[in-house]
Amino acid sequence: MFVLNKTNSIANHFLAEIRDKNIQLDSMRFRKNLERLGSLLAYELSKSLSYRTETVHTPLGSADIQLISSQPLLIPIMRAGIPFYQGVLNYFDHADSGFIGAYRGKSDDNNDFEIQLDYVATPSLEGRRLILIDPMLATGKSILKTLRALRQNGEPDHVDIMCAIASPEGIAYLREHIDLKFDLWVAAVDEELNNKAYIVPGLGDAGDLAFGQK
Ligand code: URA
Repeated sequence: MFVLNKTNSIANHFLAEIRDKNIQLDSMRFRKNLERLGSLLAYELSKSLSYRTETVHTPLGSADIQLISSQPLLIPIMRAGIPFYQGVLNYFDHADSGFIGAYRGKSDDNNDFEIQLDYVATPSLEGRRLILIDPMLATGKSILKTLRALRQNGEPDHVDIMCAIASPEGIAYLREHIDLKFDLWVAAVDEELNNKAYIVPGLGDAGDLAFGQK
């Protein structure tokens, strides 16, 4: 697992701004900071991809350069995943993308919720490197359910899960339930989940902060 805020960098400033309740209500800034964190994590992830060497000609000579061998497949979980995904797309600008809508629906047990998927659109996953993008890894249930639905469109070669803030419970849940190789890329790991399955200290509801209350 790669954790971005363990490094001394501007990422900590962006994280501070999405958490701070006096700053986060500026939705444009909130989205921008999520986008920036997505880009920084994409950069870190890019170090694990493969590159091929080619020769290019500059006006003054030639140079051996590195080009990405194959673009990953990007799939954000909407709504909150959209600005975070934009940050990843800024770097993998020729990547294919899929989209999935997930929300917390009612369950039979009134104190609990069930993850509902209401939109799934994706190219084939077969043999691809899949980057699943969700800013808040809380229980892990939406990521697991999303992955199960997506795998009906082919078996990825490798899965990366990218989150801005993760809970220890969510990380443990994914490790227990995902039956294929995956890597986690997170900006921060927080303390815990509260009894409403929100991350503490977290930031609140990322979808509402980015796009307004539903
Ligand atoms: N989704 C959010 O937006 N925030 C949380 O804390 C958990 C899930």
